[in-house]
Amino acid sequence: MGITLQKMAGGVLFALILVVGLNLLVNGIMPVETPHPAPSSAPHAGSPTATAGQAPATAAPEQPLPQRLAAATAAKGQADVKVCQSCHNFNEGGGTKVGPDLFGVVGRPKAAVAGFAYSDGLKKLGGDWSYEDLDKFLTKPGAFAAGTKMTFAGLPDGDKRANVIAYLKSISPNAPPPPQ
Ligand code: HEC
Repeated sequence: MGITLQKMAGGVLFALILVVGLNLLVNGIMPVETPHPAPSSAPHAGSPTATAGQAPATAAPEQPLPQRLAAATAAKGQADVKVCQSCHNFNEGGGTKVGPDLFGVVGRPKAAVAGFAYSDGLKKLGGDWSYEDLDKFLTKPGAFAAGTKMTFAGLPDGDKRANVIAYLKSISPNAPPPPQ
């Protein structure tokens, strides 16, 4: 009996050492790994001017729409509208899919494609699709047109939106001149 107890105690002790040892190993390694990136970024954070200069690099403020449109190209936009094509036609007379036909949408009255059952949210907007309104709608459809049926999260990248709008302009014969 005594020997068995001793063996059991030995076993428990061994298990404890194993657990503690593993813990030490894991916790011992982790702090050594993590401080590595810190010293390299520390010198930048030193002066307030360096920090201020760094901030725009991580969250660059968006250019106003006229500037973004001036830099945009329809060709890039055509590649970016691939995400829209599951729901929209862009070719003339392409017809309604999940969403209305977008040929000629720039300068077109909102919610105006005959035979498409628009949501009340979109119908309530009124007016024509201007560059500014398209920019806002495409940023976050549900925020610009509450209750819209367009279940698309939006294009948060302002430059990408400008390219898409430039492409929409290129397929809109009645598009007004872009904002300056
Ligand atoms: C999941 C399907 C879906 C995707 C993806 C989608 N749309 Fe739509 N879109 C719709 C629907 C549905 C409507 C009608 C909205 C309503 O009635 O509220 C709509 C409406 C619109 C309108 C208003 C048209 C009008 O006649 O007033 C524009 C402009 C538009 N979408 C552009 C886009 C662009 C550009 C993209 C891609 C960046 C896109 N949509 C992606 C489904 C979609």
